[in-house]
Amino acid sequence: MERFLLGADQLRARGGGKWKKHPPEVIPAFVADMDFKVAPGVQDALMMFTDTQDYGYGQVTDTIPLFEAFSTWMARRHHWQPDPTLSHANTSVVQGLVATLLAFSEPGDSIIAQTPIYPPFLLTIEGTGRRLVENPLVDNGTRFVVDVEGLKRAAAQASMILLCNPHNPTGRVLDRAELEAIATIAANHNLTIVADEIHADLVYPGATHIPMETIAAAAERTVTLTSATKGFNIAGLRTSIAHFGSPALKDRFDKRLPLHLLGVPSRIGVAATIAAWSEAEAWLNDVMRYLDHNRQRVTNWAAHASLGHYPPEATYLAWMDCRRLDLPEGATPQQHFLEHAKVALSEGLDFGEPGQGHVRLNFATSAEILEDILGRLGGAFG
Ligand SMILES: Cc1ncc(COP(=O)(O)O)c(C=O)c1O
Repeated sequence: MERFLLGADQLRARGGGKWKKHPPEVIPAFVADMDFKVAPGVQDALMMFTDTQDYGYGQVTDTIPLFEAFSTWMARRHHWQPDPTLSHANTSVVQGLVATLLAFSEPGDSIIAQTPIYPPFLLTIEGTGRRLVENPLVDNGTRFVVDVEGLKRAAAQASMILLCNPHNPTGRVLDRAELEAIATIAANHNLTIVADEIHADLVYPGATHIPMETIAAAAERTVTLTSATKGFNIAGLRTSIAHFGSPALKDRFDKRLPLHLLGVPSRIGVAATIAAWSEAEAWLNDVMRYLDHNRQRVTNWAAHASLGHYPPEATYLAWMDCRRLDLPEGATPQQHFLEHAKVALSEGLDFGEPGQGHVRLNFATSAEILEDILGRLGGAFG
């Protein structure tokens, strides 16, 4: 058995929201946390704090090794060498999303997002008084792809594009041609590109993550938001990075937002993130092999169950179209499965209108729990 696996009883005994939100008879498969232990190197870094009860303030310079570890990891894993001095530490990627919206757009501006999309994209655009312009991904019969012509039309009225790559919820990893097309359109219309690449470390064989800042036409207008939290399962430690493709972008960000508005990540989160990027690659590779088995299992199961589903190229999230199932009317599939299968999935509509009739299933769990989830869902098909 893999050393990182946890059983349902162990998971229920912990305090995380995923296993605490619903009553114990419900299996959670919604929020994007993995039901796995962290890498030993990450755990050791955390224990350095707990063993010595070392919870005091740090220094401003604490982020320097964080930015260097980020740059080294990106270079090794993704062939991109971000400049450590153009980095900014945030507590979360969503915080970075709000901050970049405030720094690089004005109230009332139109912001492009490719729906269906991770719900905070929609909520932060609305919450900051900006206007959402949807450029829905298109189902081409084998996967979801960027609607380049639609993007050209949308770009004519927008000031920014929020990109999620790899894409949550569809699991698409945008290819070079798509990224080049987005970069060209952004350059033609002077759009700022905000690239949420938090799932970049969770790419399966067959796909390659290409950081937006490595696309020449995009680099100087791109802010990359990322963290070690998805790949290394440390989302509760609240540490992320915003990287600016040019000094001018960083300058504007620093000047537009009042000092101390954002706060800084904790020393504990910073240390765990450095350990993840420096010492945990073997763990990540093992986890990816395990997730790949789960991904194939979900894909085969979905095909037999007449669910609309394309295997994700990255992420441990399965986006499933339930509209061909004969489910009773009056409830969404998510509500139906919560009530009748006692499985908590993510609600498709939270990802925007194209999510109607869809659910998102998190398969980052043991094969045993996954079988329980799939068996329960199958039992509630109609
Ligand atoms: C695309 C995407 N961005 C951001 C986040 C959340 O990041 P954070 O917790 O750092 O705000 C998630 C979490 O699932 C996500 O899927």
